Amino acid sequence: MVDDRREGERESVEFELDGVPVTVDDDGSSLLDALRGPLGVRSVKDGCSPQGQCGCCTVLIDGAPRVSCVTPTRRVAGRSVTTLAGLDGGRRDVLAGAFLDAGASQCGFCTPGILVRLAALDPAAPVATVERALAAHLCRCTGWRTILEAWDAARPTATPVTVASGRSLVAARERASIEGGGPQDVGLDVVLGRARFADDTAPADALVAVPDGSGGWVTGETLAEARRAAGKVQGRRTTAALRHPIEVPDGDWLVTLRTSWVEPAYLETDASWCVPGGEPASPLANGGAFGAKVDSPAPAAARALADQHGRAVRVVLAREDVVRLGPKRPPVAAGIAADGSGVLRVVRTSGIAQAIAAIAPGLVVEEVEVAGPPTSAAIRAAGWAEAVVLLAGAQHRAGAGPPVPAHSAVAVSPDGTVEVHVAGALVRARVDGVGVHLRVNAGDPLDEVVLRSYCVGAAHMALSWVRREAIAVDVAGEPLDLTIRSFGILRAADMPAVEVEIVGGRASAPPVAAGDAVFAAVAAAEWVGQGCPPEWPTDR
Ligand code: FES
Repeated sequence: MVDDRREGERESVEFELDGVPVTVDDDGSSLLDALRGPLGVRSVKDGCSPQGQCGCCTVLIDGAPRVSCVTPTRRVAGRSVTTLAGLDGGRRDVLAGAFLDAGASQCGFCTPGILVRLAALDPAAPVATVERALAAHLCRCTGWRTILEAWDAARPTATPVTVASGRSLVAARERASIEGGGPQDVGLDVVLGRARFADDTAPADALVAVPDGSGGWVTGETLAEARRAAGKVQGRRTTAALRHPIEVPDGDWLVTLRTSWVEPAYLETDASWCVPGGEPASPLANGGAFGAKVDSPAPAAARALADQHGRAVRVVLAREDVVRLGPKRPPVAAGIAADGSGVLRVVRTSGIAQAIAAIAPGLVVEEVEVAGPPTSAAIRAAGWAEAVVLLAGAQHRAGAGPPVPAHSAVAVSPDGTVEVHVAGALVRARVDGVGVHLRVNAGDPLDEVVLRSYCVGAAHMALSWVRREAIAVDVAGEPLDLTIRSFGILRAADMPAVEVEIVGGRASAPPVAAGDAVFAAVAAAEWVGQGCPPEWPTDR
């Protein structure tokens, strides 16, 4: 919130928006609120407002990139504001086409802000400059490398490649939907921020509802008004230490591992809207949020509130709400012995024991009660990826010692290559000083650009998980890290190159999802490469 005016004290603010003079009431709110509210610009996204940390709301102010959620509307009086629609059309279209051709946009929520920032750079700028520029942004899906490749492809000297080169976007959508776990679009509309996210399609006059902090909802005529009424306080990053809440069970273990709570960190916060008696909009418009929105409270709240108020209601969670209310990857503490037996303790989570047993039936699973945020087995490979990691670590550590029985789902080569065979996908992963090396058989690739993009994104999430990701939780179970930058997501400059070899042709086998297997295999390869340190994250 940026309001320092008294109630009822309003003036108007005039500025130029995408070359057109506009006037809005100054109610003390942010430029983002003005753009998405009365001015109806929905390409500017809200991923963390008013934290100013995700970059999704980036615009140009007098030609310089700024995050609009921390820019008071009154500060742009008499100035020029440029969104995606107002960029130089030629440069925007070249960049957007390059993003599509490189698979540099998946859910598409972060992409408009990134395009705006990149469009302000010298088109001949080197990759290091682009990596620095991307430090102001977060992307959870793509793993950054495809964005850098898109930048390279959009250089003035590059030979343009376009989807007209024979690529089928129908097949691309099919691959994206398989990987995303639900209907997912691929095309220029996604790149340009028109993926029909729930909060973008809500009626302009809908009542806005936000969590009240006590399990209920507060409403207002605008998002800023509702958040003021809820007493929203901007979340902070804590200085409290991370906790690993479970002890490793006693035993003569070859390797052990402890993890903490991990935030799924999807960029599009939960949102929905509904009219009285209607069907609520899905918070999963163009991506599965890595399984974390399966039980989102937004749709049911939108429906109930619309019926209660007799008008359209738009429900929007702030980033702090998502951290407090949304499910986390459950912490584990585990040990595995030289004979391959082991015990994996995990925070009690419905369905997690079955997920682990499907991959590692030899591990005894003990669910333990720990005060903490909600956890979910629906989150990407929850539980079973940890089992893959343990099996790989044990096989690697056994090395020349007593053999750990080979497991059909996981195999480790002497050079640290981890092979994972799960749900029909076969993935080999190795992490070295050059980067991540992947060999992926996911049956019919359908569209190699999209399959590769999901593999790179999964590799990024895996490296990020092992090295950096976790949130602090106090002993009462309350999350303390409430800002999107405190989750530990690896930045563009920290993401190594990813080499993806796709095997299996059109007629090889039906298409299956590869992303989760890549995630598990890269996490295991990274851990093995680090020498199997006993606590994650390893780098903070
Ligand atoms: Fe970047 Fe989804 S494409 S967050």
